[in-house]
Amino acid sequence: MSRKNAVLITGGFGFLGTHLLEEISTQSPGTSIHVIDNFSTSPMSLEETLEDLQIDLDLSYEICDLSGSKILKDKEYNFSEIYHLASYVGPAGVLKHGGNMVRGIVNDGYQMIDFALENRSRLLLASSSEVYGGGVKGLCAESTPRVVPAETSIRLEYAVGKIAIETAVINTSKVRNLSSIVIRPFNVSGPRQSGKGGFVLPRFIASAMNNDPLTVFGDGNAKRAFTHVRDIANGCYLAMKNESSGKVYNLGNPSNITTISEFANRVIDVTKSNSKIELVDPKTLFGALYEEASDKFPDATLTIADLKWEPKRSLDEIITETWEFMKKLKASSFQSISGKG
Ligand SMILES: NC(=O)c1ccc[n+]([C@@H]2O[C@H](COP(=O)([O-])OP(=O)(O)OC[C@H]3O[C@@H](n4cnc5c(N)ncnc54)[C@H](O)[C@@H]3O)[C@@H](O)[C@H]2O)c1
Repeated sequence: MSRKNAVLITGGFGFLGTHLLEEISTQSPGTSIHVIDNFSTSPMSLEETLEDLQIDLDLSYEICDLSGSKILKDKEYNFSEIYHLASYVGPAGVLKHGGNMVRGIVNDGYQMIDFALENRSRLLLASSSEVYGGGVKGLCAESTPRVVPAETSIRLEYAVGKIAIETAVINTSKVRNLSSIVIRPFNVSGPRQSGKGGFVLPRFIASAMNNDPLTVFGDGNAKRAFTHVRDIANGCYLAMKNESSGKVYNLGNPSNITTISEFANRVIDVTKSNSKIELVDPKTLFGALYEEASDKFPDATLTIADLKWEPKRSLDEIITETWEFMKKLKASSFQSISGKG
């Protein structure tokens, strides 16, 4: 079967991937889309995902690892656009992959570069704001150097893998006929995010729903810019449709910069919870290998100017929508992410 001008999404049944499917469905209904996902970190089962999705798409999928995909070996397929989202993710989720992450991120990335070159597809790579380390006192612009700290942590391996593969994508576009774009998301949050990877918002909401303490790491003053997953999905779509190649764009909402303590208090207010805030050492929850990131928030000037991207959703909207989604699930499924073991 030929699927000329179809779109390929790796990791399309993940948190960001499902919102990207809905974004493409809204912007270009009827689009032919093929998803490859091994369900290693996707927030819901295949059945739950298909039930929850509101899409008007010609959707096909393979439930397998990228390395085992038949589509990627099949010359009949012809994708005009490839979104490469599949990756190890999450501050705690990555820990068990230590020592293997650079290999996985780089091998999968090269597989997609080669496939995109063969198919003459435009390739979008989901990198990460982790590549900045701490930026300049937390502020990260695309022109900010990517800082590699002295200490080798598992978290660093994720960042190094992303730096390596975004360098390979951009340089391939310089020397060969690859149309590409790289995005660096900042603290993607919203409905369907799984608490499994150690992400902060589902963890806070789970605790708030059980009236358990919200466990805030360190002194709670670390700064982040939580950005609604639908704004990020829209940024991915705009980046794909943009004509530039080999460029990098931050996707993070500068209006949503907050400290983690302030954010925890917003969660308590919005969910009308009786929870208190408890400052803890994250290593007591996630083990000795866990590393917390330093301050990290975006300068999105370039993205807003070049892509006409308008991140719209506030912190309260992010919290409310995530809470609404989690209320649909059973409270028991939150026990393991509420910091109570
Ligand atoms: N969530 C964030 O805050 C954040 C921040 C910065 C960057 N990113 C990047 O955005 C992308 C999407 O992240 P997400 O939050 O949606 O994560 P996610 O875990 O929800 O989605 C990733 C999807 O890829 C699938 N997958 C992983 N490895 C695979 C493989 N080898 N073969 C096939 N499928 C595979 C997983 O099952 C999952 O469904 C990732 O590249 C991530 O590095 C996310």
